[in-house]
Amino acid sequence: MTLPILITGGTGFIGSHTAVALAEAGQPVVILDNLCNSSPKVLERLAKLGASPVTFVQADIRDSAALDALFARYTFAGVIHFAGLKAVGESVAQPLRYLDNNVSGTINLLQAMDRANVRRIVFSSSATVYGDPVHVPIPETATLNATNPYGRTKLMCEDALRALHTADPRWGIAVLRYFNPVGAHESGLLGEAPNGVPNNLMPYITQVALGQREYLQIFGADYDTPDGTGVRDYLHVRDLATGHLAALRALDEPKLLTINLGTGRGVSVKEMVDTFARVNGVPIPYKLGPRRPGDVAACFAHTQQAKTLLDWEPRFDLARMCADAWRWQSMNQQGFDTPL
Ligand code: NAD
Ligand code: WQD
Repeated sequence: MTLPILITGGTGFIGSHTAVALAEAGQPVVILDNLCNSSPKVLERLAKLGASPVTFVQADIRDSAALDALFARYTFAGVIHFAGLKAVGESVAQPLRYLDNNVSGTINLLQAMDRANVRRIVFSSSATVYGDPVHVPIPETATLNATNPYGRTKLMCEDALRALHTADPRWGIAVLRYFNPVGAHESGLLGEAPNGVPNNLMPYITQVALGQREYLQIFGADYDTPDGTGVRDYLHVRDLATGHLAALRALDEPKLLTINLGTGRGVSVKEMVDTFARVNGVPIPYKLGPRRPGDVAACFAHTQQAKTLLDWEPRFDLARMCADAWRWQSMNQQGFDTPL
C-alpha cells in the first residue's frame, strides 16, 4: 500500500494542481488547509478530476494538537508544504502576521513531523529570496537578499531547513524556489482565484479580458529590458506541480536540495499582453504607468539544477499558459463560487 503524502495549503492555487499531479501518479494525498485564502469548493473540483484527497482537514499549521492528531492517524511518506501567506504588500503592512503564519507555522509543522518521525519535506520557496539579482539567469548559488517581509519569511524558513539538515541528516528536504506560476488546469476546473484586486499580472490580465477591469496598468516602461517593461519567468502551474512529484522522488535518499523551478525564459509584460491577446483573440487595453515600488527589471531562472537533480523540465509554453488561464477565468467568472 502506498503511504499518503500530506499537502499543507492543498486547496490553494499551486497545492490543488499538485494534488491532481499526485493523483495522476497514483499517489494518495491528505490535504490540510485552514481555508484562509482558498475555497472548500476546490474539493468538489478535485473530485471531478478524480483527485479527491483521502481526507481533508480544516486546520492551521500553527495548531500543534491538530497536527499531532493527524500524524497519529496516518503514516505519511512525506509532506509538501504550501501553506503560507503570499501577498508582498500585505506583508509590509502586517509583518508580524506574516512571521507568525509563515515562520512560526513552518517551525511548528517541522516539530510535529519530527515527533512523528516523518522527515521528508518539499518546501515552497520563491524567487523573491534573490531580491534584485546581480545577474540573470539566476543560479541557486546567487546571493540571497529578500527585500520585503514576505520574502524574508521565506528566507527564514529556508535557513531553518538548512540548519535542521545540518543538525540531523536523516531529514530529506527540497527547497523549491518558484519563479512566476501562471495558467490553470486545462479542464477549466481549477485555477487562481485571488481575493479583491489581483496583485499579480496574469489574474489582472484575465479580469481585464473579462471586462471586470477596464485596462491593465503596466508598471514601468523605462526598465533596462528589450521593450522597457519588466521581465519575468512565467511557468505553467501544471509544470510546477510535476516538479513537486520529481522532488519527492529525488528525496528517496535523505538530502538537502535547493532548486529553481522556472522555464529559464524571460518574458516582458508587453510580450505577455500581446501573447494573451493573440492566443485568445481578446484585446487587452493597457496604459503605461510608473514603476511599482520594489519591482526589479528582470528575473529569470538558471534551470540546470532542476534538469540534473530532478530530471524535470517544463512542457508548456507561454501560449498554453495564456490559453489555460483564460479558459479558467472565462468559465469561472465568480471563481470557485461559479456553479459547476
Ligand atoms: P494560495 O494562497 O493559493 O495557497 C496557500 C494555501 O495555504 C491557501 O489555501 C491558504 O488557505 C493556506 N494557508 C495559509 N496559511 C495557512 C495556515 N497557517 N494553516 C493552514 N493553511 C494555511 O497560494 P499559492 O499561490 O498556491 O502558493 C503556495 C505556496 O507557494 C505559498 O507558500 C507561497 O508563498 C509560495 N509561492 C507562491 C508563488 C506564487 O506566485 N503563487 C510564488 C512563489 C512561492
Ligand atoms: C509580474 C510583472 C510587474 C501587475 C510576485 C511576488 C513574488 C512571487 C510572484 C510569491 C512585473 C508587472 C504586474 C500589474 C504590471 N510570489 N505588472 N501590472 O512581481 O514578479 O512577483 O509574484 O512568492 O514574491 O513579488 O509578479 O505578477 O506581480 O508581476 O505591469 O497590474 O508584471 O511590474 O514586471 P512579481 P507579478
